[in-house]
Amino acid sequence: MGDKEPGRIRRMFGAIAPRYDRANRLLSLSVDRYWRRLTRRELEGRLPPDPRILDLCTGTGDLALELSSLGSVVACDFAHPMLVLGMKKASRSAAGRRISFTEGDALRLPFPDRTFDAVSIAFGLRNLESYRRGLAEMHRVLRPRGVLAILEFTLPTVPLFRSIYLFYFVRVLPRLGGWITGHGRAYDYLSRSVRQFLAPEDLDRLLGKAGFHEIRHRTLSAGIACLHLGRKPNSGGLR
Ligand SMILES: C[S@@+](CC[C@H](N)C(=O)[O-])C[C@H]1O[C@@H](n2cnc3c(N)ncnc32)[C@H](O)[C@@H]1O
Repeated sequence: MGDKEPGRIRRMFGAIAPRYDRANRLLSLSVDRYWRRLTRRELEGRLPPDPRILDLCTGTGDLALELSSLGSVVACDFAHPMLVLGMKKASRSAAGRRISFTEGDALRLPFPDRTFDAVSIAFGLRNLESYRRGLAEMHRVLRPRGVLAILEFTLPTVPLFRSIYLFYFVRVLPRLGGWITGHGRAYDYLSRSVRQFLAPEDLDRLLGKAGFHEIRHRTLSAGIACLHLGRKPNSGGLR
């Protein structure tokens, strides 16, 4: 059975859900908050007034909450326990009431064509069994001129920093993650899946093949994460 078999991924995220936020804050030293704020700022100038936004692989809804100041947000994930926690968090803020949580698979989205002005996905694409199918679904549900924002982990390219980071990522992070959540295997998987993920330039190429244009990426925090942006052309683009 493959690493990315959807049932396995869903169970894994369901199991770590109760400690997921705490692990994120500790392991990233809260830098993940800055990355989400930056994603909102990059989207802000690119969207029409009062946009409809889809946040895919929303987890406990942190990016959905950040984006809810821009418009209405549908927060979608296939791990039920993540959504339950997200709903609780969203109910505690006024902006959070603009979010509706939906259980759904990113590879078979339960939305009609051309529904959203923006689709966001943070630390989710890497987990999909097929990046190509996931991107095709995102393209399908976007309206013409709709914007896609992908936030993902990457590996630093500067040699010394890369070696230090890899040591942390391979040797330290799985232990820390296991200690915080009780699920060390999930953090082994995190480390492995990031090392196997596409380089930013390769993901840009895949976005082009999926029919997006105005593609650009911005490397974050010395290359440990990357924000990709793309737009669905007016004519609908290639597939
Ligand atoms: C690493 S978490 C990211 C959560 C959140 N976006 C964040 O930034 O914290 C990945 C999420 O993707 C979800 N996921 C993975 N594959 C999925 C799929 N095929 N359909 C829907 N959700 C999926 C998991 O359930 C999990 O909640």
